[in-house]
Amino acid sequence: MRMTQLLPLSDQSIANAAGILRGGGLVAFPTETVYGLGADACNAIAVASIFTAKNRPEFNPLISHVATVNAAFALGRKTPIAAALAAVFWPGPMTLVLTREDHCPIARLTSAGLDKIALRVPAHAEAQRLLTAFGGPVAAPSANMSGKISPSRATHVMQSLAGRIDLVLDGGACESGVESTIVDCTGAQAIILRPGGVTRDEIIRVLAAANLDPDIGNPPAPDSDSAPVSPGQLASHYAPNAALRLNVETAATDEILVGFGIIAGSGDQPLSLSATGDLSEAAAKLFDLLHQLDAMKLPKIAIAPIPETGLGEAINDRLRRAAAPR
Ligand code: TXA
Ligand code: MG
Repeated sequence: MRMTQLLPLSDQSIANAAGILRGGGLVAFPTETVYGLGADACNAIAVASIFTAKNRPEFNPLISHVATVNAAFALGRKTPIAAALAAVFWPGPMTLVLTREDHCPIARLTSAGLDKIALRVPAHAEAQRLLTAFGGPVAAPSANMSGKISPSRATHVMQSLAGRIDLVLDGGACESGVESTIVDCTGAQAIILRPGGVTRDEIIRVLAAANLDPDIGNPPAPDSDSAPVSPGQLASHYAPNAALRLNVETAATDEILVGFGIIAGSGDQPLSLSATGDLSEAAAKLFDLLHQLDAMKLPKIAIAPIPETGLGEAINDRLRRAAAPR
């Protein structure tokens, strides 16, 4: 249980909010679309607590918010399509999915292990002030409990998340209430992953004016077992190359065991999602560890049982997807 403060926007409350973000806390703040539930995008433990607060049973990749177009392109690779869209629609209700730049400090949990990251430069003046005061990318999904409608007022956020987050900055009603349009800019054609505040026609017009391919590509096919889908549930979701076996207490001789809690991993320096059995730590480490194991080119990986409580549900969901036959 957290003490949730509700504060009107002021220099003081924005400075408080930036301090809370620096300390790994959770701050809800207004944007011109909906209220976001923000955490330091580079702090995997803080990002894990977003999922706990929202009671999310799976890890959807999150949008990272920054104050300026330059800050965005320092994190995600600028393509001609991205440059054209950013020039017209940023700051604004537009999110661009870009390839993570080398040395991008955004935590892998923020992008749910994907090599692509979603970036947005919001136009809302107070969101801008918060992002400038914090000085780094802020991961923020809509500030509501999982499965509930997106909040367009601070009171909606309080009704949904009071006691679960540290601060709500009250900036009154959001201008639009419709989420940002999400466009994947990593390929030869722009792909609209989620319709939103910026329309398809506006996007086509801007691409044509910049002499780029004005056709909008189709999103990749969703997982066969889970329709309908949000973009985060797409089959392109990161999966390791190695075969994964779950709920393993004793590894076979050809497997490397990743431990959790009292079950220690195999090897001299035992790999573990969390030696103390801390689910936030396990969530924070999950995608880094999967990437690390992939880089080691191990054929078979076994994972110790993770309890199906709290964040364990999201961790197990992701592990089951990673272990599913493909
Ligand atoms: O207007 C908005 O976009 C609000 C405000 C707070 O910015 N945010 C918002 O976030 O709606 P959320 O988490 O509710 O939705 C983000 C969507 C998810 O459906 C997620 O799957 C997708 O963005 N997304 C994030 N990163 C992605 C990535 N790397 N690739 C594909 N989709 C991504
Ligand atoms: Mg949402």
